[in-house]
Amino acid sequence: MTTPEILLDNVDFGENPYLNDAHEPLRSELDNPQIKIIGDVPKDFSGIYLRNGPNQRFKPLGMYHWFDGDGMIHAAEFREGKVFYRNRWIRTKGLECEIEKNQSIWPGLMGVPNRNLKDNWGSDLWLKDNSNTDITIHGGKAISTFYQCGDAYIVDPINLETEGTLNIKSSGARQMSAHCMTDENNGDLLFFDYSTKPPYMTYGVLDKESKVIHHTQIDLPGARLPHSMAFTRNYSILMDLPMFWDPLLLEKDIHKVTFYPEIQSKFGIIKRMASGDTVKWFEADPCYIYHIINAWEEGDEIVLDVCRMSTPVPKSDIRNKMSGPYGSMLAWLKLDAVYHRYRFNLVTGKTKEESMNDVLSEFPTINNKFLGIKSRYSYHVSLADTDVILFDGFLKIDSNTENIQKYKFPDGTFGSEMQFAPRDNSKSEDDGYLITFVTNLVTEKGEIQVFSAEDLSLGPICKIIVPQQIPPGFHSSFVYSEYL
Ligand SMILES: [Fe+2]
Repeated sequence: MTTPEILLDNVDFGENPYLNDAHEPLRSELDNPQIKIIGDVPKDFSGIYLRNGPNQRFKPLGMYHWFDGDGMIHAAEFREGKVFYRNRWIRTKGLECEIEKNQSIWPGLMGVPNRNLKDNWGSDLWLKDNSNTDITIHGGKAISTFYQCGDAYIVDPINLETEGTLNIKSSGARQMSAHCMTDENNGDLLFFDYSTKPPYMTYGVLDKESKVIHHTQIDLPGARLPHSMAFTRNYSILMDLPMFWDPLLLEKDIHKVTFYPEIQSKFGIIKRMASGDTVKWFEADPCYIYHIINAWEEGDEIVLDVCRMSTPVPKSDIRNKMSGPYGSMLAWLKLDAVYHRYRFNLVTGKTKEESMNDVLSEFPTINNKFLGIKSRYSYHVSLADTDVILFDGFLKIDSNTENIQKYKFPDGTFGSEMQFAPRDNSKSEDDGYLITFVTNLVTEKGEIQVFSAEDLSLGPICKIIVPQQIPPGFHSSFVYSEYL
């Protein structure tokens, strides 16, 4: 056990709901502190559950949006029944500059761009790249990324040291968005980025040695805000959805996200290593999609499973509770998505789509060995009926039978996106465990919880109590035992 490496003075974050209560940022980094184990930690799996999320370091300049916080990785390492916890900020270039100045430098998403700042990231090159959104395992390293695009930071998954950034620019690539994806079949990393200036999107592939082996421009009708992508063994799927910054206001440097229900959704399907001018576009009903469940090939069709929002507009009842920009932020940050399946026929060019159920669920994950090939099970969070986003339970959805297993947390406890950890010599798609971090507002201590993936509804097999709260976050990943 070691003492906190950093113990920062408390910062007065004001009344912002995403800087208080469950979302209050941590001020310390712990490396293998003393933990308390309740129950038996399974000995038949090893690996590391990693989760990224915003953890603001300095008092923000002006209005703070949940998406602005500095990226912090929390890790739960499992080795044959032993558990180790640690957390560290990602040392992004922007955070290092702010540490040097001992204050925030960049305005946030709800702020006014400061075009005088030299180092900028994001799709419109004015935000700080906080790398807080996603974490993907590639070649045994953790790659953290930012949803508005930026550098791909390399993080050691064991000690959580930031080792630098992937060098993709020397090969002609630009930035990388969150939700780059590793194909476990051959180790490729598939990625995209987007911009307010042409080319509005680019797409690329890194091999397992992190060398750029493909990069191409994707033509879009204008600036878009895609959040994720999907892939199959042979194809990648990119999205042009009708929710993006109002183009007329964007010309005046005003960034207003707007949903255009009169514009069709479009899905671009491209062979993994093909030129951008070969993309085949498929139209579908208007919607917005943050997160993909999986995609695969079936005969002439590409099947794409997603969590889909049919009407991604702010909730007026939530906006009414708090006036001003924080009310607007809270109202937009609702994830009213349901499980939806698309079938894109590569021969006829036709799209079929259907809702698989009407249960609200988000932050889906699957057994990552099944990414790009037909999968049956997905693991989702359910959303608490609260003003801020909190996950009050989990769902396991069987897309073959439409059966749903549910688990609901006790009052005052909230989970994180789950990751599937295979049991040693795993025999089937769901032969393993689901791991999550828990924010416990009752005990004010964080928890690591482990569930059986076969029967989620049984509740946690064990709880590991860590000596500091773990705030809710965004995306996670699992480092397989071969990388330990
Ligand atoms: Fe995301």
